[in-house]
Amino acid sequence: METDNIVIRRARIIDPRRQLDRVGDVLIGGGQILGTGRVGVDRRPEGCRVIDGSGLVVSPGFIDLHCHLREPGFEYKETIAAGSKAGAKGGFTTLCCMPNTNPPIDTAAVVEFIHQRARQDSLIRILPIGCVTKGRKGHELAEMEELASAGVVAFSDDGDPVYDANIMRLALTYSSDLGLSISNHCQERSLSCNGVMAEGSVATHLGLDGIPAAAEEAMIARDIALAEATGGRLHVAHLSTAGSVSLVRQAKERGISVTAEVCPHHLTITDQWVFGSKGQPTAAAGGLAYDTSTKVYPPLRSQRDVDALVTGLADGVIDCIATDHAPHDVTSKQVTYQDAAFGISVLETALGSLLQLVHGRKLSMGAMVERLTNGPARVLGESFADLASMEPGTPADIVLFDPNAEWTVDTSEFESKGKNTPLEGTVLKGRVVATFAAGNIVYESPELRFEAPRAKP
Ligand code: DOR
Repeated sequence: METDNIVIRRARIIDPRRQLDRVGDVLIGGGQILGTGRVGVDRRPEGCRVIDGSGLVVSPGFIDLHCHLREPGFEYKETIAAGSKAGAKGGFTTLCCMPNTNPPIDTAAVVEFIHQRARQDSLIRILPIGCVTKGRKGHELAEMEELASAGVVAFSDDGDPVYDANIMRLALTYSSDLGLSISNHCQERSLSCNGVMAEGSVATHLGLDGIPAAAEEAMIARDIALAEATGGRLHVAHLSTAGSVSLVRQAKERGISVTAEVCPHHLTITDQWVFGSKGQPTAAAGGLAYDTSTKVYPPLRSQRDVDALVTGLADGVIDCIATDHAPHDVTSKQVTYQDAAFGISVLETALGSLLQLVHGRKLSMGAMVERLTNGPARVLGESFADLASMEPGTPADIVLFDPNAEWTVDTSEFESKGKNTPLEGTVLKGRVVATFAAGNIVYESPELRFEAPRAKP
């Protein structure tokens, strides 16, 4: 599609694939990146619009390997249209959507439905993830080859683990031939039982059933053994414990093909937030309340776990950040903690949450951008490399953000149908100014500044 020529001037360009981090200009046109560096007036095409990028960061658009768009079947929670607008507002230009829909994404027909809906309703790229097992029931492998031919980019039964070890072994065996990862939601159910939050003092205080760290770690250990035995492509979804980081670290050191993701909430908030006090111990002292918007699987955990996850992300043991955007309708959360649905609406707060780590000097800006772009592209495979690049000739899927803009989370302004976030009312620092997909502006904030056209000499 032909698009306008636009030059973004004097922005901090971060392009991790080229290890580029410097102030310069980005020229886009015809849906592609035309150049980065210094784009003088003489190099600007006729009618080129100019954006003032000073003080802003420009990078490849973010890629989310793990989100729930709820279509088909749960359109009252989210749609591809609303989820893609939320993604664009959050700086994402590619969303990989999980198959816990109704029907689940376990046939080529449902994959085609998602593609068709995305073409019709979405301004950003939507890549479906197919089921590992038929109906996500865990008993029989889905037709993985049919799903791969139809265009799924990975396999997962997310929301549920691939419980049967032999089915997981087979799935991993096929994953290498198909060149697609198996993203497993690691949860040993005989350990998590009826748990609704992390095992620990907060759960005890509130009288809620806890989920031990071992519920996650036991299945990760199993999957690593199976990845080693098969040479398959294992991707561990949403790591949440310090022990999980160690397991992935050791597996990588042993040369096993494993990649892993972590979510913004597991990197930034703890189980103290379950009290409904936004992590403040004083309010927690009463212990009479809880906030169901903190209920998520895997659960929010201790500060020690958060610290280990941040370290694992910073040093590259964890390959990427994924949102696990899990929008829910209001009534699914306006119930007791036990009855509430698991999940947090994340797409529109992800960047602001992650920048807390950058401002707090726990993660470099370059590493944050890498784990949101090149990291997930590597998990998807070499054919997706262009989605995380600002090399001339690649698609102009880019994000422009202000790392210092302060804003207050107000879910009434969310594009997502899911207003379920514990961050409501929280002040975050850092926000998207504009998102471009194939050169088109698919989201712009009031902060976007176009320069007045210069008069011809
Ligand atoms: O909190 C979660 N919500 N974790 C999951 O694994 C599934 C997700 C959902 O689909 O709501």
